[in-house]
Amino acid sequence: MNFNSPRGTADVLGPDILYRDYIIDTAKKLFQLYSYKEIITPIFEHTEVFTRGIGQYSDIVSKEMYTFQDKKGRSITLRPEGTAPVVRAFIENKLYAQNLPAKLFYIGHMFRYERPQKGRMREFSQLGIEAIGSNDAVTDVEAIWLLNQLFLDLGFKNLRLLVNSIGCLECRKEFLKILEDYLEKIKNGLCSDCNERFGKNTLRIYDCKVEGCKEILKDAPKIEEYVCQTCKVHFARVTGILDRLDIKYEIAQSLVRGFDYYTRTIFEIISKDIDSAQNALGGGGRYDNLVKQFGGPDLPSVGFAIGIERTYMLMKELNIDIKCIKSPKKIYFIRLDDKHDAYLFHILKFFRNKNYICDFNINIKNMSTEIKKAKSSGFDFAVIIGDQEAEDNTITIKNIETFHQDVFRFAEEADKIIEFVEYK
Ligand code: HAM
Repeated sequence: MNFNSPRGTADVLGPDILYRDYIIDTAKKLFQLYSYKEIITPIFEHTEVFTRGIGQYSDIVSKEMYTFQDKKGRSITLRPEGTAPVVRAFIENKLYAQNLPAKLFYIGHMFRYERPQKGRMREFSQLGIEAIGSNDAVTDVEAIWLLNQLFLDLGFKNLRLLVNSIGCLECRKEFLKILEDYLEKIKNGLCSDCNERFGKNTLRIYDCKVEGCKEILKDAPKIEEYVCQTCKVHFARVTGILDRLDIKYEIAQSLVRGFDYYTRTIFEIISKDIDSAQNALGGGGRYDNLVKQFGGPDLPSVGFAIGIERTYMLMKELNIDIKCIKSPKKIYFIRLDDKHDAYLFHILKFFRNKNYICDFNINIKNMSTEIKKAKSSGFDFAVIIGDQEAEDNTITIKNIETFHQDVFRFAEEADKIIEFVEYK
C-alpha cells in the first residue's frame, strides 16, 4: 500500500492556500472588470477534444496525456489544458448565438504527464480566459493587457512580456518549407526530441531548451520575415495599441508555443527572477481555426492561461508582500465559567458577523493554558470572559503576540474594539 501522493502532485495547505485564494480572487475581480464571465467545464473530456484541438504531434498529445478507457470502452482524457474544452463547450451550448466575442474565464485543475521538477507538475491548476469570435487586433490587445495587469495587481515587478506573430496557416506553411529546407542539412546536430519534431511539429524546434539546438536555431530563418501582409498589419495594430497603453513588451522572434491551434499573435509572460526552463508564468495567443475545426462556425479567437502554482511559488520566493493578502484576524474566546455562556455567545455573534475567525474553549481550563493553546493554534487575539467582564458588560482583549491588552465596554465601544483588533 502506498500512502504518498502520486509523483508530480502536491497537497496544498497552510500559507499556500492564502496565496492561491489571493491569486484567484485578484484574477476574478479583474476578469469581471474586463467583462469576462466564468465557465466551468468537466475535468475530463473525450480524448478527441484534445487530439483534434491541440494537435497529435504536439508534446502534450503525443506524450503527456492521462488517457484511459471508461467502463464502456470510451477513450477519456483528463484535461491537459482549458482552451479545447472551452471551445467544445462554446459550440455545444451554442454560445455563438449570443453577442460576440463570447468572453469567458475558467479556473481549474489540469493534468500533464511531464517529468516533474520545480514549477512543473503532473497535476496543476490554471486560470485563463478565452475571447471567442473576434478577428480584431483589439481582442489580442485586451488579452495581453489583462495578462500583464493581472501580474501587476499580484505585485510582480520584474517580468518580461514576450509577443510574436507566427502568421496564419497560409504564411506558416510557406515558412515551414523554408525552415525544413534549412534544417535538413544540419538536423544531425539537433537533439533527439527535435529530430522527432522535424517534419511533424518543426516550429516547436524553436522552443527547445537544449543549448545545441538553441545555437543551431540562432541563424535559422525567422518567421517574421515570411508572414503575409495581412498578418503583418494585424501584428502592427497589436503592438501599436500596446504602445499606446504603455505596456512594456518585447518582440521575441523565437517564441513559439506548444499547441498546433495557434495562429498570428502569441505571447508569454516570464519571470526575470527565475533562471529555469519553467520561467513562463502564463501564455496564450490567437487561434483562428479551432472553432471551425471542431465543427462550429468560423470564429477566430484568442486567450491565455496562467499557472497558479508557478505564480505563488514565485510570489513566495520573491517575498511578495503577503500582508496585502488581507486574511481575517483570528480571535480565541476564553470562557472561565459556563454561567457566562449567554454573554459569550452574544459577543461571539458580534465578531462572527464582522467576519472574524472565531473559536472558543470547550473545556474550561485556566487562562494561561488557554492562551498557550490559542497561540499554538495561530490565533491573533484572546478575548477573556470572566466574572468581572460579565458583570460590567466588558471584554478583555489580549494581543497574543505582543501581550498588549485592553478592556472595552462592549455595547458602547464597538468601534474601539475593531480598531484594537485591526491595528494593535
Ligand atoms: P500553456 O503555456 O501550456 O498554455 O500553460 C499556461 C501556463 O500553465 C504556463 O505558463 C504555466 O505557468 C502553467 N503550466 C503549464 N504546464 C504546467 C505544469 N506541468 N506544471 C505547472 N504549471 C504548468 C495553455 O495551457 C493554453 N491553453 C493557454 C491558452 C489559452 N492559449 C489560448 N488560450
